[in-house]
Amino acid sequence: MSEVLAAQEIDLCYGSSRVVRGANIALRRGEIAAVSGPSGSGKSSLLYCLAGVLPVSSGEVRFEGRTLGGLSDAELSALRRDRFGFVFQYGELLPELTVEENTALPLRLAGQRKAQALAAAGEVLGRLGLRELRERRPSQVSGGQGQRVAVARALVHRPAVVFADEPTGSLDSVNAQAVLQEFLTLARSQGAAVVLVTHDADVAAQADTRYTMVDGVLTPQGRPAP
Ligand SMILES: Nc1ncnc2c1ncn2[C@@H]1O[C@H](COP(=O)(O)OP(=O)(O)OP(=O)(O)O)[C@@H](O)[C@H]1O
Ligand SMILES: [Mg+2]
Repeated sequence: MSEVLAAQEIDLCYGSSRVVRGANIALRRGEIAAVSGPSGSGKSSLLYCLAGVLPVSSGEVRFEGRTLGGLSDAELSALRRDRFGFVFQYGELLPELTVEENTALPLRLAGQRKAQALAAAGEVLGRLGLRELRERRPSQVSGGQGQRVAVARALVHRPAVVFADEPTGSLDSVNAQAVLQEFLTLARSQGAAVVLVTHDADVAAQADTRYTMVDGVLTPQGRPAP
């Protein structure tokens, strides 16, 4: 199988509340999957499970054939740092770092030299129209600009899988398309798999596979019409 990421019958419970219910999803290299569904249906929770941010309550998530639940904390941290990119729903930039330092963070954590990491960050920021903002702090940019910085940071180290939670939620259609283009390029030219939570029908329509999440139940919608 060329599946890079696969979840089988995963549940996530917060106390007695089961917010992800028996979800199954599999992604091949280069595949973009879009997940849509009402607020509170469990989309962010699903991403946290797939990315190993939260341990599943039952079932299993495999990355390149290895079960996340079987990894040590150190192995899981290294995997998330080196192979995954995550765009959190609310940005989560570090306030004391500049835009370019935030973007370069995954490369710095992987041991890359500062000048090289900042240069790579500058390139991604440039493609997202943010080059002029690179020395500002997150508090000095708009919500949508901060969202694009979070996207740049999730892509800068060319991860094998990108998890993006409403990455275009605060963006106009032109900037939303620029963000989507970055995901498409990473998928098509680097073979990354992308799981995209989105409310935007135009964004979902450009994914390879689509799912809906309702009350914790994930249902495939098949491929978009050509
Ligand atoms: N830490 C938590 N403890 C308890 N319940 C939680 C916790 N986090 C989320 N929930 C609940 O789990 C359910 C799923 O939440 P989740 O954030 O995954 O939804 P979502 O589909 O991402 O919603 P939205 O579109 O609003 O972002 C909701 O009912 C939410 O209230
Ligand atoms: Mg959410």
